[in-house]
Amino acid sequence: MSPIEPQKALVGKTAIVTGSSRGIGAGIAIELGRRGANVVINYTSPRGATAAQQVVKTLESGGSKVASVQANVAVVSDLQKLVDAALSISENKKIDILIHNAGSGDDCYLADMTEDFYKKQSDINLKAPIFLTHLCLPHLAQGGRIILLTSVSARLGVPQQTVYAATKAALESCCKVWATELGRKHGVTVNCVAPGPVATDMWWDSDPALLADFQPIIDSTPAAARVGEVADIVPVVLFLCSEESRWVTGSVLSASGGMTFIG
Ligand SMILES: NC(=O)c1ccc[n+]([C@@H]2O[C@H](COP(=O)([O-])OP(=O)(O)OC[C@H]3O[C@@H](n4cnc5c(N)ncnc54)[C@H](OP(=O)(O)O)[C@@H]3O)[C@@H](O)[C@H]2O)c1
Repeated sequence: MSPIEPQKALVGKTAIVTGSSRGIGAGIAIELGRRGANVVINYTSPRGATAAQQVVKTLESGGSKVASVQANVAVVSDLQKLVDAALSISENKKIDILIHNAGSGDDCYLADMTEDFYKKQSDINLKAPIFLTHLCLPHLAQGGRIILLTSVSARLGVPQQTVYAATKAALESCCKVWATELGRKHGVTVNCVAPGPVATDMWWDSDPALLADFQPIIDSTPAAARVGEVADIVPVVLFLCSEESRWVTGSVLSASGGMTFIG
């Protein structure tokens, strides 16, 4: 039997990538398509609508089926739209790959914390992955993959990241619970990819004080003294989508140039 071309290993699979109009999510979506998957693209803002069109064009030109969905992941009723879109493009009415990528990276010192800030950020970063996974459960394919984008911030202790760091740490806990709770029952693996700083809008829109607080950590990053690129993160996520990752579950893969060795 001839081996499947790695480039086409995901033919017939259907993926949802939240927050896939820009940044890391767009990179993941395009690579999933390049490997043959059908993909649900998600955005929430008018800016995202324009960016999403470009991602859709790229995927369609490669032959993937694509659904582009405006949905605010913080709103549970919007999450059903993502599930419905996935089922509409899935040949076997199953969802094979679920990538929880949409995130809010807003910065806030504890002294300035408000209930509104807490709710807004934690609804996007934590509530959304919990309820979207819940909605996908009846439709998950055997051999399915759930991947959560977390962050080295979960354990670095950088100022202004109270809610951001806490929600990312919470996702890493969810990952371990779901690996056990869903693993055998649904035949899925559940893993996290934890990037360090990556050159996307989220990073460059950060408070200058946060960028300054991160600089010494960047300067001492073991692999290279630089911020990561989307292309550094995408292959790690794609590995976790592959058949070859079948024995990896409940793990947090640091994609940070080794940043997590520090601190
Ligand atoms: N960049 C970094 O330095 C870094 C480091 C570690 C971890 N991460 C994590 O990696 C993931 C992706 O980050 P990124 O840097 O690629 O972000 P980004 O460039 O800011 O892009 C964010 C994406 O999420 C979408 N989004 C935001 N809020 C949403 C909502 N409420 N509902 C639906 N979609 C929403 C955006 O859609 P619109 O275009 O419509 O706004 C956009 O597609 C996040 O989970 C982030 O925490 C990033």
